[in-house]
Amino acid sequence: MKTLVFNGSPRKNGDTARSVQYLSDRLAGEVRVVDCYRADISPCVDCRYCRTNNGCCINDEMQDIYRYIEECSNIVIASPLYYSELTGRLLDTASRFQMYYSARYIVGKPFDIKPKRGGVVLIGGGSGTPEKASDTADFILRQIGVTQLGETVCFHNTDTADPFDSKFFLTKLCGLADFLNGRD
Ligand SMILES: Cc1cc2nc3c(=O)[nH]c(=O)nc-3n(C[C@H](O)[C@H](O)[C@H](O)COP(=O)(O)O)c2cc1C
Repeated sequence: MKTLVFNGSPRKNGDTARSVQYLSDRLAGEVRVVDCYRADISPCVDCRYCRTNNGCCINDEMQDIYRYIEECSNIVIASPLYYSELTGRLLDTASRFQMYYSARYIVGKPFDIKPKRGGVVLIGGGSGTPEKASDTADFILRQIGVTQLGETVCFHNTDTADPFDSKFFLTKLCGLADFLNGRD
């Protein structure tokens, strides 16, 4: 089993990174984490190459990740809430999935992506709401082959509490791991 995780936090040892580690430790098989703030991945600039060709012409780390997306069993989006959304860097990274949309709906030659399970982990200080970010993550995951989505796991109170003191949050993360491991 292979799981791909997109970590949208800039903080190396922040709560999102710790949650990703906690989840990864409970997943069977291989886990590959994409650190969106440090990966060599440029945003889509809507050059429209993918409207007439099958693929993306930007030659960076995403080319390897595309291959992983096509073959992996699970994909997880983990992000802090910024203005009630996924972080900008995570959205920049996800913008490169536009080529899958073009392949399916414009070129008419969809990529052969293995149907997979997906998960969403959101971390917020406590302002706004997580619903918008959860909907955005769901939408992105559906575009890259996720056909079964687990319950969004959210801790929305880091301004005053540590998520790792919350039994509820840790139980939900374990539940997501079980779902991704196929034990649901
Ligand atoms: C630019 C910015 C915008 C933020 N917007 C929100 C928000 O809308 N809602 C919220 O609950 N927390 C917001 N936060 C707080 C972070 O989500 C919170 O500190 C989170 O725990 C950081 O996670 P990390 O340690 O994994 O990076 C924001 C933080 C920053 C820096």
